[in-house]
Amino acid sequence: MSFSRRRFLLGAGGVLAAPLFPGLLRAAPAMPMADKRMAPQLAQPNQPLVNPATLARFVDALPLPPVARPIGQREHPAHPGRRLPLYRMEMRAFQARLHRDLPPTTLWGYQGSSPGPTLEARRDEPFLVEWANALPTHHLLPIDHGIHGAEKDRPDVRTVAHVHGARVGPNDDGWPEDAFAPGHSLLYRYPNAQDAATLWYHDHAMGITRLNIYAGLYGAYLLRDPEEQALALPSGDYELPLMLCDRLIARDGQLYYPVSDDPAAPWVSEAYGNATLCNGKLYPYLEVEPRRYRLRLINAANARHYELSLSSRRPFVQIGSDQGLLGTPLERMRVELYPAERADVVVDFSGLDGKTVELRQPSEPLLQFRVRSRDNKRAASVAVPAALRAVPRMEAATAVRERILTVGEMDDANGNAMMMTLGGHHWSDPITEDPVQDSVEIWSLVNLTGDAHPIHLHLVRFQILERRPYDLFAWNERKELKYTGPGQPPPPHEAGWKDTVRADADMVTRIIVRFEGEPGKYVWHCHLLEHEDNEMMRPFKLLPKA
Ligand code: C2O
Ligand code: CU
Ligand code: CU
Repeated sequence: MSFSRRRFLLGAGGVLAAPLFPGLLRAAPAMPMADKRMAPQLAQPNQPLVNPATLARFVDALPLPPVARPIGQREHPAHPGRRLPLYRMEMRAFQARLHRDLPPTTLWGYQGSSPGPTLEARRDEPFLVEWANALPTHHLLPIDHGIHGAEKDRPDVRTVAHVHGARVGPNDDGWPEDAFAPGHSLLYRYPNAQDAATLWYHDHAMGITRLNIYAGLYGAYLLRDPEEQALALPSGDYELPLMLCDRLIARDGQLYYPVSDDPAAPWVSEAYGNATLCNGKLYPYLEVEPRRYRLRLINAANARHYELSLSSRRPFVQIGSDQGLLGTPLERMRVELYPAERADVVVDFSGLDGKTVELRQPSEPLLQFRVRSRDNKRAASVAVPAALRAVPRMEAATAVRERILTVGEMDDANGNAMMMTLGGHHWSDPITEDPVQDSVEIWSLVNLTGDAHPIHLHLVRFQILERRPYDLFAWNERKELKYTGPGQPPPPHEAGWKDTVRADADMVTRIIVRFEGEPGKYVWHCHLLEHEDNEMMRPFKLLPKA
């Protein structure tokens, strides 16, 4: 494996050079800031890419993923004695039009759909899902065989599904090394024993997660409970998941995943597209009534973050974050989402009869709402209640231990190598994070890089204590954690239950976690998928309490 090259690409948490393929993408929306020092050389795609600025806006209806239906009942062999509803999610290749004026695109999806069917769960009503791999044996996108877990002796196509944000047993969580080849399946049990929340599912195969999700393997998983139901939030036709991700598309309609200029080591440090898919369509529209809607916003992108706003200049009313309802609704003109983060929002179209409203990222229109004229037979929607759910703050004093964990260690024994890791360890190093069941810990994420990383822990929900500036020099010289200013408590929209947190550059991001769940092995990782695939993921072990 071209080790030194990879180190180079990883160093300083590099972002892709801007612009990508300048000649082809002149009118593309702003690309992330270039870090010239670390920018990898990108290979030219072997055919021109679609310039999304040339695509007609709002000619396709926004797809609403189908709701999954159980196919029967079954006993789980590890939990005999009880038959549970059984869903089947078959992963296969299929063709879909991403836009009216593009040729059909080959995608991978669950049940022939990307996003896959929405799984609707109710609190304390467990069910089973059989995740079946019926994909072709050849991968749609370029594998880097030098990456850990994607070696040449493994089947190219491997998948394992994970429900992001679900508290499940260690054998049902989508352990990355449990990924299986076409022709196989796994039966997972979901207890749904947790608060209502906007969860989502996606692939998690070791070393190729970024490619499998880019190919289309993701979907929504909405967990409901009676407490939330009692709030009379918009539901039925007035509630929808909205999954956002960015892609590069070749003129023949096929997905293009960027590669380095080294065919033996095609991995790039972050894959950004220039076209945004909303539930699998480019620039779609949705007809709405002049009333309130509930949108479950989910960032399913590999690396892109969103800063969403409405052209109506009305605020989103944010009612929930990753792990469910906030204490009170918040009016927000902009909703920021890093990869894997969710925002549960209510948008009010009343009084906008006959008008259009665009969802924007920052100024680029992504989706158009077309507000119908009022139909007086329909009841107006009720306002969002002023109190949503009690979210008691977790006190730092309840923690039994604090772990100092670096994000993006940049040195080796000789002080010159640069690797993107967590806690300075590789995936295959012995487990270092081993919390005891039901104990409370503080994880202090010391970001050594120049970029924000969305850090996700499986199994648990947590709260953000603070983000606090620190002295990087003191850390690099002496491994001394020296704070240089007061901690900043999370803003209200980040003060609810989270499962993914933005670890900002130059900051120690401190989270507090109660490790509830079944003992066993789980993972935590950066949710920039290119980082996750290349060592920025670690196992953790939940130890049984004495
Ligand atoms: Cu969104 Cu490890 O997952
Ligand atoms: Cu997860
Ligand atoms: Cu990262």
